[in-house]
Amino acid sequence: MSPQYQKDPRTYNNICNLFGERFLGNSLVTERNYERWHKQRKIMDPAFSRTYLIGLMETFNEKAEELMEKLEEKAEGKKEFSMLTMMSRVTLDVIAKVPATFLFPLQLADKSGRVPYMPGKQKLIKEIQASVRLLRRVGRECIKQRREAVENGKEATMDILTQILKGDDDENMLDNFVAFFVAGHETTANQLSFTVMAVAQHPEILERLQAEVDEVIGAKRHIDYEDLCKLKYLSQVLKESLRLYPPIPGTLRWTETETVVDGIKIPANTTLNFSTYVMGRMEKFFKDPLTFNPERFSKDAPKPYYSYFPFSLGPRSCIGQAFAQMEAKVVMAKLLQRFEFQLVPGQSFKLLDIGTFRPSDGVMCKLKPRSHKKDVQM
Ligand code: HEM
Repeated sequence: MSPQYQKDPRTYNNICNLFGERFLGNSLVTERNYERWHKQRKIMDPAFSRTYLIGLMETFNEKAEELMEKLEEKAEGKKEFSMLTMMSRVTLDVIAKVPATFLFPLQLADKSGRVPYMPGKQKLIKEIQASVRLLRRVGRECIKQRREAVENGKEATMDILTQILKGDDDENMLDNFVAFFVAGHETTANQLSFTVMAVAQHPEILERLQAEVDEVIGAKRHIDYEDLCKLKYLSQVLKESLRLYPPIPGTLRWTETETVVDGIKIPANTTLNFSTYVMGRMEKFFKDPLTFNPERFSKDAPKPYYSYFPFSLGPRSCIGQAFAQMEAKVVMAKLLQRFEFQLVPGQSFKLLDIGTFRPSDGVMCKLKPRSHKKDVQM
C-alpha cells in the first residue's frame, strides 16, 4: 500500500490513547507521518534481518520446548485445556491476556471512530487503564535495566529492545515497547491456535504434516533454521490458516483529498477498509473459499496477489512477518512431533472480533503423546 495514503486517523488514534492513558502513542504501528514513521522503521529493521533472526532459533527452540513440557503434563488424553492459553504462554506468560482487553474498546467505537461513553462499564474502563499503566511501567523498568547494563559495560546485544532504545525520547521508546509487545505476541498465538483448530478438523492434513515433520525433524529436539526451510507443507498449512483466520483482519487507510482509483472517485476524508479476511473468503479470488485447502499455496499454484495480505502490503507491512513465521513453525513442528491432538466436542469454532481475531472458545483440546515419543532424543 502506497505511503501516499496514511493510516486512518479515526481508528488508529483510538489505540494511541485508551481512555486517556497513552497506549501505542507514536509507535511504529500508529505513527501516521511518513518521515517520522520511516525514521523509526530504519532503526528497527536490523532487529529483523535474516542474520539476526537465524540467531533467534535458539530462543524459539527454548521457548517452544518449555511449552512442550507444560503440554506433556496434560497429555494423558483426558485433561481438556485451551490451546490459545497455552500458545500465549510461549512468549510472555504473565501479561499474555492483557492485549486483548486493550483492544476491546475498538469494537465499541462509533462511526467517527470515538469510543463512546460506556455507562455501567466503568469497572472495565478502570481495568483497561490500569493494564495500560502496568504495561508502560514494565516497559519503563525493562528500558532502565537495559540502559544500566550498557552503562556498566555489558555489550549491547542486537535485539528489539536495543533498537527501541535508539528512539527519539523516553515516551516514544515506551510506545514502541508496548507496540512490539502487543503486535508481536497475541497475533502469533492466535495464528497457532487457529492452525491447531483447522488441522485437528482435517485428519488427512494432520497425517501429511506429521509425516513431513517425521521425515525432516525425526526425533531430534533442536530444530535448525535449515529444517524450517524444508517444512514446505507446514508453510502451506500456516498460510492457509492465515487466509481463513487472519489474526489481523486488514488495514485501514484514509483519503486526505479526493482520489480516483481505477476510475472510481473516492471523496476526501474517506476511510478505506482493506480486508484480507473478506477477500480471503470470496469465491472470486479463492475457489470454494470456505474449504481449508493448503494446496492453494503449493509451489505450482497461482500466487494470490493483492487478494491475500495477512501481513498487509507495502512499506507499512508487518516488520515481524519472518520472525512470526519462524516461531510458528518451530512451535507447530514440535507439537506435531510429540502429540496427537483432539478437539473437545461442543465448542464453537467462531472467530471473536476484538480488533484482532481470536478463536472465540479458545480451541479446547485434549492431547496424547505420539506413540514414537520414546525415541525423542535429549
Ligand atoms: C502471525 C503473526 C502476525 C500477523 C498476522 C501480523 C500482521 C500485521 C499486520 C496486518 C500489520 C499491518 C497493521 C496495520 O496496517 O495497521 C502489522 C504491522 C506490524 N507488525 Fe505484525 N503481525 C504478526 C506478527 C508480528 C510480530 C511477531 C511482530 C514483532 C515482533 C510484529 C510487529 C509489527 C509491527 C511493529 C508493525 C507495524 C509496522 C510498520 O508500520 O512499520 N508483528 N502486522
